[in-house]
Amino acid sequence: MDLEELESLAREKLDTGFYDYIAGGSEDEATLVDNEAAWARRRLRPRVLRDVETVDTSTTILGQRVKSPIGIAPMAMQHRACDEGPVATARGAAKAGALFVMGLFGAGSASEVAAVAGDAPRWLQVYVMKDRQRTEAAIARSVEQGYHAVVLTVDVVRQGNRRRDVRNSWAFLQSDGKIEDPNEVFDHALTFDHIEWFASHAGVPVVVKGVLRGDDAAACIEAGAAGVVVSNHGGRQLDGAISSADALSDVVQGVDGRAEVFVDGGIRRGRHVIEAIAMGARAVMVGRPIMWGLVVDGQRGVANVLEGLQNELERAMALCGVRRIDEIDASLLAPSSLDGRGFPR
Ligand code: FNR
Ligand code: LAC
Repeated sequence: MDLEELESLAREKLDTGFYDYIAGGSEDEATLVDNEAAWARRRLRPRVLRDVETVDTSTTILGQRVKSPIGIAPMAMQHRACDEGPVATARGAAKAGALFVMGLFGAGSASEVAAVAGDAPRWLQVYVMKDRQRTEAAIARSVEQGYHAVVLTVDVVRQGNRRRDVRNSWAFLQSDGKIEDPNEVFDHALTFDHIEWFASHAGVPVVVKGVLRGDDAAACIEAGAAGVVVSNHGGRQLDGAISSADALSDVVQGVDGRAEVFVDGGIRRGRHVIEAIAMGARAVMVGRPIMWGLVVDGQRGVANVLEGLQNELERAMALCGVRRIDEIDASLLAPSSLDGRGFPR
């Protein structure tokens, strides 16, 4: 699987404004670049002679079985990537037996997605909006429609300074043609109390997305979150934020086994998934490559990206001498991947 080629095929089909919106990051794009580089520079200590005739990539996330620990990160504007929008993405995820996280913002209809999602877990991502009722209504609808968890994204208290979008005069057009400005509609006064409120009222587990520190992660869990997603929003918010790979160990320590830890940002290879799990993640989420798959080939493109990553993971697990996800542990990471404090670099 060649994700670079997939991106260039997608780029040929898109106008500059939309391509840049997907591909770009904020300011100097330092964090965007670092996200991929941080996984790429880790090194593994493979085991040999472990009988890897059969390798099983399946695992559970928040108690639900998935074919692999590779899911789809929430992304806005999927209706512009493909006519069917997130319905196609959900079909691709269902085919691959993967977690699908539906973005709420300018993305499409949660009920249409629910209808095609199959047995695979589906979560709904929401922003807490100034219009609190809109958020509550979205959560209530999602619970009704059988979504298994709500993801609260907390790293957009201001829209990141995305210079490509400024240059292209990019605007968030909803599928109904309405323009939404994140700086206007999102609640910027969020605190851990809000997490507590949502965790006790949502009716499904709440996962907090956009956490980069162990102390914040601990506070989220204490407020009732069932999980956190270590994420810098794909380098689209605070430029200069630590890469998610480098933030992961601190968060895992802060959570201390009390909840599940997920991570996204720059995951492009099966072996990156092994690195994340070796550091204590339960599963990973993939963003932009899914969007490229959706643009190039709709639901099939999404399934191809997921299945390509699953195949890479299966092969990398075999080559690491591990047969099951629970055999992936910190001893697989090379010491050269650790810093002076014993944290993976
Ligand atoms: C995003 N991301 C995002 N996150 C979120 O919580 N709600 C959203 O609506 C969006 N929208 C969105 C649109 C697009 C086009 C991109 C690329 C990303 C962030 C996303 O969930 C995830 O954190 C990153 O994309 C992961 O990084 P990679 O895999 O793209 O490097
Ligand atoms: C983005 C917003 C929608 O990253 O989260 O574009």
